[in-house]
Amino acid sequence: MTCNACCATYARVFGKNVARFEAWRYRHFGPARATRTLLALIQAAHSAKDAEVLDIGAGIGAAHLELLKAGARCATDVDASSAYLEAARAEAERLGLGSRVTYHYADFTRVADAIAPADIVVLDRTICCYPDMPALLGAAARTARHVLGLVWPRETWWVRAAVRAFNMFERLTSSCPLMVYVHPVAAVDAVADQHGLRCCASRDVGFWHVRVYARGSAQRQHAEVVEGDVHAGSVEKRDRH
Ligand SMILES: C[S@@+](CC[C@H](N)C(=O)[O-])C[C@H]1O[C@@H](n2cnc3c(N)ncnc32)[C@H](O)[C@@H]1O
Repeated sequence: MTCNACCATYARVFGKNVARFEAWRYRHFGPARATRTLLALIQAAHSAKDAEVLDIGAGIGAAHLELLKAGARCATDVDASSAYLEAARAEAERLGLGSRVTYHYADFTRVADAIAPADIVVLDRTICCYPDMPALLGAAARTARHVLGLVWPRETWWVRAAVRAFNMFERLTSSCPLMVYVHPVAAVDAVADQHGLRCCASRDVGFWHVRVYARGSAQRQHAEVVEGDVHAGSVEKRDRH
C-alpha cells in the first residue's frame, strides 16, 4: 500500500458499511445519475470499444464496470479505500468481469508514475475529497491518452452551504476529518489545459458538475456535444450551425 494520511480518513468515511450499501444500490438501481451522465458524455467523446480504462477513486467500481460492459478491454482501479476496492472486486466477479480489472490500493498521486496510460481516465467524485486537487488531477491528466471524465460538486450557493455544513460536522466529530472541496470550474480547466486537455462536454446534474475533457481528434470530433442533451445513456448532438 502506498498512501498518506488521507487513507486513514478514507478508511473511516468509506468503510465496509458504506461500501456494502453502495454495492447494494448499484446492484438494484445501477450507477448514480451523475455517473450515468458522465458515462454518456465519455462515450460520445471516445468509444468504449477495446478501450483501456483507469478509474481513480472508483468506489464500488460502477464507472469502469459499465465501460467494460460497453466493450472496454480492461480497467485499472486505484483507490485509497480498501473497503471500496474489496466491494469493487466482488462486483466485478459477480458480473464475470473480474479477470479484466487490476486493483491498486493507493493514493494515486503516489503511484501515478507506475500506472500505465489509459484511453479513458475517470475521476467520479474523487477530486472533491482530496486536499491537493492540482496534484491529483495533473497526475490523472498525464495518464489520459484520449479522454478524462470528472464529477465534482457544483459551484452554487446551496451546494457550498451543504459542503460547509458537512465540513463543520466532520471537524467537530473527528480527529481526521474528511474535507470536501467545491473547486471552481476555471481552476479545474486550468489544470486540464496544462496537460493538453480541453473540455468537450459538460452538464449539471443536481448537486454535481459533470465535465469531460479530450485531446486531439476526440476533442475536435465531439466539440459539438458541449451544449447537447443527455438522455438515459445517450447524447443528443445539437446542430449549432
Ligand atoms: C466520494 S468517493 C466516490 C466513489 C465513486 N467514484 C463514486 O462516484 O461513487 C471518493 C473515492 O475517491 C477515493 N480517493 C480520493 N482521493 C484519492 C486518491 N488520491 N487516490 C486514490 N483514491 C482516492 C476515495 O478512497 C473514495 O473511494
